Amino acid sequence: MSEKRSAWKSNLGFLLAAVGSAIGLGNIWRFGYMAHEYGGSAFLIPYFTALLVAGIPIMLLEYALGHREKGSPPLSFAKISEGWEWIGWFMPIVAMFGIMLYYSVVIGWCINYFFYSFDLKWGADTESFFFNTFLEISDSPTSFGGIRIPIVTSTLFVWFICWVICYRDVSHGIEKACIIFMPLLFILTLFLVLWSLNLDGAGIAVWEHYLKPDWQKIASWKVWTAAFSQMFFTLSLGFGIMITYASYLPEKTNITKNAFMTSIINCVYSLIAGTIVFATIGFMAKAQGAEFAEVIKSGPQLAFVVYPKAISLLPAFNELFGIMFFLVLVIAGISSGISLIEAFVCAITDKFSFNRKKTVTVVCIIGFLGSTIFTTRSGLLLLDIVDHFITNYGLVAGGILECIIIGWVLKSEVLRKHVNETGTIKVNFIWDILIRYITPGVLLIILFITLKTDLANNYEGYHTDHLLIFGVNWLLISLIVAVVLTFYPWKPEKLKREHLPEEDELLV
Ligand code: PHE
Repeated sequence: MSEKRSAWKSNLGFLLAAVGSAIGLGNIWRFGYMAHEYGGSAFLIPYFTALLVAGIPIMLLEYALGHREKGSPPLSFAKISEGWEWIGWFMPIVAMFGIMLYYSVVIGWCINYFFYSFDLKWGADTESFFFNTFLEISDSPTSFGGIRIPIVTSTLFVWFICWVICYRDVSHGIEKACIIFMPLLFILTLFLVLWSLNLDGAGIAVWEHYLKPDWQKIASWKVWTAAFSQMFFTLSLGFGIMITYASYLPEKTNITKNAFMTSIINCVYSLIAGTIVFATIGFMAKAQGAEFAEVIKSGPQLAFVVYPKAISLLPAFNELFGIMFFLVLVIAGISSGISLIEAFVCAITDKFSFNRKKTVTVVCIIGFLGSTIFTTRSGLLLLDIVDHFITNYGLVAGGILECIIIGWVLKSEVLRKHVNETGTIKVNFIWDILIRYITPGVLLIILFITLKTDLANNYEGYHTDHLLIFGVNWLLISLIVAVVLTFYPWKPEKLKREHLPEEDELLV
């Protein structure tokens, strides 16, 4: 049975959903740490270069493709050339089974910590609490050591919320949720910025470690590759999410404006969220008489070790700060999580014409069961490996392949024409040059450098077998499943589209 395709009720709803996908845990704990590690405000140079060279051009590409073909990634690619459909599957499979399985567990941790904030349960030694009491972490990725009940419970809750939101069509589910979530997120964030900037030692830390540039740091390949992979992750590119979201847009829309707005709001949010990180940690360093560089940590440790400590040290209303901080993480996480699920659900319903509600239910049940592996005692180690491979290889490869198919198979002029018919800001041939040569070229170099570094030194010193099993295999299995799914034939009417005669000339 085929259902009517979902559609956004308003452009604002679409924009909030897209921004909701882009703003996630990465904006809060990845960006701040990167800025510290890679030269303070000097990092803005590689960051904004990545935004201009890869972020905005690919955001435009994904929006234009989804809108023109009115389809999920596999349908959109199949409409261009059936031989390339597998890329359209690879992206949402990686999104759903590569990212969402662990992303949901991390949102689960945030829910646990949200409740711990009520009585600052983490105590004085937040590091030991996180690793030993909360995670009961094992010493190797394969020593699973059983499931942690508090973590699996909160993860189940995360999947339940995502199921409730995704169950109905996008305008009643995702759009409504994001219309509530995003303004709430912005208000809470603003509140936290003002609060943290008023703490003792905050201003000086923001200036010394965030705003003051350290130019020497950016003269390293590592910084540039990090900026590019962060750009993909933070803008949710290379997963087919933005293709899916744009496929629900009405005929008349403004693609360029939407693409610029989504990218810019996301990056500005990162800069603002970075202020909270530097201000709070600056306060904490001063309160403890320690050096800033000694106390700041990356990734999960920033949110679950450093922050709880800083929260405990606050002069007043510590619990409230904790509750608000973890609520920000939960909201940012869920609005991204639902987009990961949606990209996969849309791909399945487009191809197999299954009923949406049943598909969402089955996908969420399988998703929850799959994510239980990350709720085991080795969950943190596993997610560290999977995240490294998916972000650095999966996403970047997805971006390169997208550029090739649009730049060379479809011909970027066709898509540019579509953009210019719909958008008020006109895109010129520079975009074609970017999509055909520069963006894929730069991404290839980045892929090569990451590969070289990983081959020279095992990532984070993990055992080669573990990297192969959980990192490389994860990508390979996604690829195989993607290829297998393309063998199922499309209903011919699904692939029909009206080509304008002048476009046909351009198609190979
Ligand atoms: N963009 C989100 C973040 O920065 C994460 C995300 C990645 C969401 C990929 C969807 C897809 O955290």
